[in-house]
Amino acid sequence: MKLVFATNNLNKLKEVQEILSDSIEVLSLKDIGCFEDVEETEATLEGNAKLKANHITEKYGYDCFADDTGLEVVVLNGEPGVYSARYGGEHGNSEKNMSKLLNELDDKTDRKAQFRTAIVLNFDHQQYVFEGICKGEILREKSGNGGFGYDPIFKPSGFSTSFAEMNSEEKNKISHRGIAIQKLVQFLNSL
Ligand code: IMP
Repeated sequence: MKLVFATNNLNKLKEVQEILSDSIEVLSLKDIGCFEDVEETEATLEGNAKLKANHITEKYGYDCFADDTGLEVVVLNGEPGVYSARYGGEHGNSEKNMSKLLNELDDKTDRKAQFRTAIVLNFDHQQYVFEGICKGEILREKSGNGGFGYDPIFKPSGFSTSFAEMNSEEKNKISHRGIAIQKLVQFLNSL
């Protein structure tokens, strides 16, 4: 069976393909000749994942899944949330995103936050949603060089290091995306 993952991020693709049964072949957007961007215009993670998955199913006719992730900070009422990628004003600029967040939290003692991933799967004319949450806190300064995005300032609960100080195997086991992917894979492998 062929299933599209609406991404061109090779790390995400590899993470899924490695734990999926061999009977399911995961294709990237490039693999199906999709080069257009789908604008993430919805106000929720689920809404944006749905937009991306529906675009592929409707335009290319494939069963498909798409993900969207946000960092939700308790004292900021869930911000940056769905706007995590462009919180600092420039899409994908992690330094600006982290600086803005550290400034916003400068005088705050409650640093609780969670990463949340929503995966929407279009399969056999039905739609399914899988969620993964990783709870933790925002550090006072950056720590570690690995990972991406907000990793240097996020410390998951029960661990003494930031995400940026973990290797990808350690992080995938406990991360929001890892948990959502495990739920998706469990569903697909049970078909
Ligand atoms: P996306 O939906 O996976 O593209 O994630 C949206 C934004 O959330 C990214 O641009 C990053 O800023 C942030 N983000 C998502 N996942 C992670 C993660 O595992 N660590 C740190 N930041 C992340």
